[in-house]
Amino acid sequence: MCQTTAFKIVSVDGGAASGKSSTSRGVAAQLNLMHVDTGSHYRAVTLACIEAGLAPEAPLQAFLDSLELGTQTIGNSARICLNGALVEDSRLRTDAVNAAVSHFAALPQVREKVKQFQRAQAALARKESFAGLIMEGRDIGSVIFPDADLKLYLQADEATRAARRKEEGQNDAISKRDELDKARKTAPLTIPEGAIVINTGKHSLEEVIRLVVELYVGNPINPSDL
Ligand code: C5P
Repeated sequence: MCQTTAFKIVSVDGGAASGKSSTSRGVAAQLNLMHVDTGSHYRAVTLACIEAGLAPEAPLQAFLDSLELGTQTIGNSARICLNGALVEDSRLRTDAVNAAVSHFAALPQVREKVKQFQRAQAALARKESFAGLIMEGRDIGSVIFPDADLKLYLQADEATRAARRKEEGQNDAISKRDELDKARKTAPLTIPEGAIVINTGKHSLEEVIRLVVELYVGNPINPSDL
């Protein structure tokens, strides 16, 4: 496919169930961007540690060094592979992974391991001829791509977020995870400098996707829509 416009990077940050994944997927499909869910990277590392019988307090460096992270693109989605094998999404969203992931994600050695991998996703997106990259997580606009072309921070009130997880049938203590993610010393969840804040509880998913597409192509939007 011929690309006529410059490759752009979009960072999407926000707490659990703030609408990052649905929004990023929808925007990626409309604009032919590669979508990377960095939560899946932390979940995959957590799963590998749990399966190896390793707790967050254990010495992890040697195990992390031996763990190979990879990517397989399926449509617009960059899916995580562990030691060469694609990891099924259902394995990343068990109660055990939900409960442990923020503890592993707070560890500097875990974050260092995924940081280089995440930055390398931009080169992969270019190689695979995507028009750009949309990456979601907790530290994308602050740490991974501080110079992203468009930085977004999504939020919604707690009742809306809890209802979304319930609808997905997930047992996930989202406020607890947010507290841990905001309080950690390395790369805490924060509104990145220059990010546009969107309250996803105020809009339908389609409206949020439309807003982000307008921002991406550089059309003016009404600030009261955010
Ligand atoms: O996005 P998701 O809810 O799947 O993320 C799971 C967990 O991974 C988060 O609660 C957080 O602890 C961690 N995470 C992170 N930094 C990111 C993405 C996720 O610390 N960029």
